[in-house]
Amino acid sequence: MTIDSASTSPARAPRHLAIVMDGNGRWAVQRHRPRSFGHREGQKALRATIEYCLRNGIGSLTLFAFSSENWKRPDEEVGALMQLFLKALDREVDELHGHGVRIEFIGDLGAFSAELRERMHKAMRKTQANRALFANVAVNYGGRWDIAHAARLAAEAVTRGELAADAISEATLAPYFSLAEQPPVDLLLRTGGEQRISNFLLWQLAYAELVFIDTLWPDVDATVLDSAVHEFHRRERRFGKTSAQVQASSATGNA
Ligand code: FPP
Repeated sequence: MTIDSASTSPARAPRHLAIVMDGNGRWAVQRHRPRSFGHREGQKALRATIEYCLRNGIGSLTLFAFSSENWKRPDEEVGALMQLFLKALDREVDELHGHGVRIEFIGDLGAFSAELRERMHKAMRKTQANRALFANVAVNYGGRWDIAHAARLAAEAVTRGELAADAISEATLAPYFSLAEQPPVDLLLRTGGEQRISNFLLWQLAYAELVFIDTLWPDVDATVLDSAVHEFHRRERRFGKTSAQVQASSATGNA
């Protein structure tokens, strides 16, 4: 992995980029290859994306690698994805660690094999002090699962007497969600042409800018990412305010 000079000023970079990496299967089918070939090729785009984030000062990257619904795919494809995750953990963790990347798996990890779970936990433990980039990998993840899980954790806190039921609010519930300690998602990028969220980060995407592109995931590189970030900068983020208010506060430097 080579990290050279920045092409986007860190001050202008989204702080948190989330990606639905879609299109691996179609990319492979277009080449008359099995879908698993597309997933293998998708890893190159993943590497390019991590390099891009490190180079451009994007502090958090969250990748949808395996949804709660992906178990419904043919056994052969699910098996190939599990093998890919195992191999990627063996091969990539040391190098990512060397670049200061903190790896975090989010989702219901209990459904994976003991071997895979152990390697995920090992990767998380090894990299937990790193701060150059938070690389969050969503596996067996669903946005509704995350909401239900947060509600359960809050209910347990109520049972223990640590949280009053009538004190539950957006602010007191927020810490129970995945990624609570990272900035909110600024930019959601979905490749592969579909324009939907597919049960990804429902709570965390509340004010994200959504960018949908036709490029299939294995074809993603720094140029594609640059144009998505460029599109992000073209958006006016109002957070409920009027356009005039936003322009007045950016003129005075008050967000
Ligand atoms: C969606 O494309 C992609 C996935 C379900 C898997 C994503 C996995 C990778 C990019 C491989 C590497 C990941 C890690 C964390 C090592 P699709 O199969 O739905 O494509 P399609 O829409 O063309 O069918």
